Amino acid sequence: MGHHSLEETQGERREAAARAVDLVKTYGQGATQVVALDGVSVDFAANEFTAIMGPSGSGKSTLMHAMAGLDSFTSGSAYIGGTDLAGLSDKELTALRRDRLGFIFQSFNLVPTLTAAENITLPTDIAGRKVDQEWFEEITRRLGLAERLSHRPSELSGGQQQRVACARALVSRPDIIFGDEPTGNLDSNASREVLDILRNAVDADGQTVVIVTHDARAASYADRVIFLRDGRIVDELYEPTMDAILQVMSGIEG
Ligand SMILES: Nc1ncnc2c1ncn2[C@@H]1O[C@H](COP(=O)(O)OP(=O)(O)OP(=O)(O)O)[C@@H](O)[C@H]1O
Ligand SMILES: [Mg+2]
Repeated sequence: MGHHSLEETQGERREAAARAVDLVKTYGQGATQVVALDGVSVDFAANEFTAIMGPSGSGKSTLMHAMAGLDSFTSGSAYIGGTDLAGLSDKELTALRRDRLGFIFQSFNLVPTLTAAENITLPTDIAGRKVDQEWFEEITRRLGLAERLSHRPSELSGGQQQRVACARALVSRPDIIFGDEPTGNLDSNASREVLDILRNAVDADGQTVVIVTHDARAASYADRVIFLRDGRIVDELYEPTMDAILQVMSGIEG
C-alpha cells in the first residue's frame, strides 16, 4: 500500500546510503539568482530504489549531482554512507565516486576511442578490480549489446550508447547507482530491461538505486518516489502505483 509520511524517513528505516541535510544550491547573484535547491533534506535508504520526479527545472539533476559528489553546493551537507562529502579533497572524492558509485547520465561520457566492451569495464579496470565475466555477459546480453561490444560509441545509436552507459554503471556492482533519466532515450523493451536490472540490483544484490525520471511507469519500479518542485521536496510516495504517481504529478504541475 502506498502511504504518505515524511516522518517515516526520519524514523527507524534502514541506514541511509546517501543523505542530504538542508542542501541549498544557488546559481548567480542578485536579481538573476536562481535557487536550484532550496533546503532539501532527504535520506536514501540503503537497499532501496528511489525515484526523483518533478517538473523540468525543479532541481532533480542538481540534487542528484550534489549528492553524488559531482557538483558543489552552496550550503548544507551531503553524505555517502557516513562520509561527509564536504570533508573530502578532490582526490578523495574521485576515489569515493570510483569505488562506491555508479552513474547513468544523459550525457553518456563514453570514451570515443574505446570499444563498447572497453567502456563498460573501464571504471572496474581503473579501480584495479577484476571484471566478473559472467555478470558482464549477462548484462550485455540483457541490454542487447552482445553484438555491439567491439563497436566504438560513434558507431552506436543514441539508445545503444545509453545502454553501454547502463552496463558500465552496473558491471562493477557499486554500492549506489545514480541515474539521471537512465531510460530517457530507450524504447520500451530496453527501458524494461534497464529497470528490471536496477530493481534486481536492489532486491538480489543489496545495492541502492536512485534515479531521476519523468516517466511514471519507470518510477513505479521504485520503492519510493520523492517529488520536487521549485527546489523543494513537496511530496513522496512509498510503494508507488502508476496512478498514484500520475495523480501527484498532475497536482504539482497544475
Ligand atoms: N549552471 C547553471 N547556471 C544557472 N542556472 C542553472 C544551472 N544549472 C541549472 N540551473 C537552474 O537550476 C534549476 C534546476 O535545474 P535542474 O537541472 O536541477 O532541473 P531538473 O529538475 O533536472 O530539470 P529537467 O527535468 O529539465 O532535467 C533550473 O532553474 C535551472 O535553470
Ligand atoms: Mg535534469
